[in-house]
Amino acid sequence: MTISPVAAAPDGDRTASRRSRTRHYAMTPPTFFAVEYAINPWMDTDTVVDTALALAQWETLRRTYTDLGHTVDIIDPVAGLPDMVYAANGGLIVDDTAVVARFAYPQRAAEADAYAAWMAARGYRPAQTRHVNEGQGDLLVVGSMVLAGFGFRTDRRAHDEIADLVGRPVISLELVDPRFYHLDTALAVLDDTTIAYYPPAFTDESRATLSALFPDAIEVGTADAYVLGLNAVSDGCHVVLPAAATGFADQLVADGFQPVGVDLSELLKGGGSIKCCTLEVHS
Ligand code: ARG
Repeated sequence: MTISPVAAAPDGDRTASRRSRTRHYAMTPPTFFAVEYAINPWMDTDTVVDTALALAQWETLRRTYTDLGHTVDIIDPVAGLPDMVYAANGGLIVDDTAVVARFAYPQRAAEADAYAAWMAARGYRPAQTRHVNEGQGDLLVVGSMVLAGFGFRTDRRAHDEIADLVGRPVISLELVDPRFYHLDTALAVLDDTTIAYYPPAFTDESRATLSALFPDAIEVGTADAYVLGLNAVSDGCHVVLPAAATGFADQLVADGFQPVGVDLSELLKGGGSIKCCTLEVHS
């Protein structure tokens, strides 16, 4: 376990205790990334992708994780599956259970086979759901529970299947704004008890659920949400987030976290950023 002392504690005792934990991630390089179809409002098929730049930005993200001491597995990209770079969607791995995605759109359906093959090669027997689940795009582990989005992609009925498969409580949260079509575009897990989120992306009922569960949550503003600032990955201390989300970065510092900005502008053309490109193996 890596312990990173927080240099300053600007907000009293609570923030003095931010600790990183060594993480295990998996990432798929954007070798075949392109915007060939539009299945979310960020995507425009007239957009030209600079593949070399996408690869360089992705490599910077990978290096950021390894420089922080984390492990990154590389998953082989598949030609003809341009969104495979968004590895978070491949499934949910908790302890010895690996649940493979079942995608909402046919354009991404075959990614499930590629992610299942990777899981099998790592020694898991991939579990399937009957209903649509888009992996860690909508299923975020926080402490001993799973926060689960629905409304655009993952089917609410999959939430019960996930609870049974991983043996953890699943909290359903309803998304209402198509720009924030996956839970990980509107909510970031910062440590086992702390989250950040963009309230307007949720129904009133789900906002009430979140404020009851996480009274100390960071509420992020519109400017940061609209650069996908919440599509971030935290090790409990360092928070890797889109570089453009400067307001959120300031909020993180005030709360004792250490923001690490990374520019993934090419991947934003597909409607994804840091977290979308990162599948965490929770073990
Ligand atoms: N183009 C992809 C889609 O619309 C982006 C997925 C982003 N991934 C995520 N975890 N939010 O499905």
